[in-house]
Amino acid sequence: MFAIARATEADLPFIMETERLPGYEAFIGRSDDAQHRARMANGHAAHFVARDGDQAVGFAILRDWNSADGITLLMRIAIAKPGQGHGKKFLRALIDKVFTETPCHRFWLGQFPDNHRARHVYESVGFIAEGVARGNVYLFGRHHDELIMSILRPEWAALSPSVP
Ligand SMILES: CC(C)(COP(=O)(O)OP(=O)(O)OC[C@H]1O[C@@H](n2cnc3c(N)ncnc32)[C@H](O)[C@@H]1OP(=O)(O)O)[C@@H](O)C(=O)NCCC(=O)NCCS
Repeated sequence: MFAIARATEADLPFIMETERLPGYEAFIGRSDDAQHRARMANGHAAHFVARDGDQAVGFAILRDWNSADGITLLMRIAIAKPGQGHGKKFLRALIDKVFTETPCHRFWLGQFPDNHRARHVYESVGFIAEGVARGNVYLFGRHHDELIMSILRPEWAALSPSVP
């Protein structure tokens, strides 16, 4: 059964291994153990792990979780074995979580514009592309453009039949 839960420090080896999978450096940043632990402890970030049965299949880091301004960033997401449907399930569950458990109004992300698989998955779960922020992220020694995408609470509510 597929389920997501808040990650703990015990999940850090899986998280660090997944963000370091070959080729993923083209799509996501990575953090060392101390950076992950500091972020987990700072109270502003929420780390999630997705499991299929007892097998961890992916992780996500949300920044500004439960923030006073209602704006939360999907800072990083990675799936250990892509192309098996885990990414869509994980994102749908994260979207439901952020809008049901926090007063989030805007759930947003930035992705590299040439990450076509990620864009397809984000759009299929309700994120809307807003535009490209030029040189918006500094990673591996240079600045990269970012495609900004978001889903707003009313859009999520319209997609969710259970929301009154
Ligand atoms: C992006 C990511 C989270 C998606 O998770 P996933 O488990 O691979 O996604 P799913 O299996 O649920 O869905 C993949 C979808 O992408 C489609 N796809 C695959 N390659 C594609 C491509 N090059 N262009 C467009 N769509 C593509 C598949 O057909 C499938 O869509 P469908 O179900 O409508 O047919 C995962 O691939 C990943 O971790 N990638 C590396 C890290 C990364 O890019 N993170 C996001 C940074 S913004």
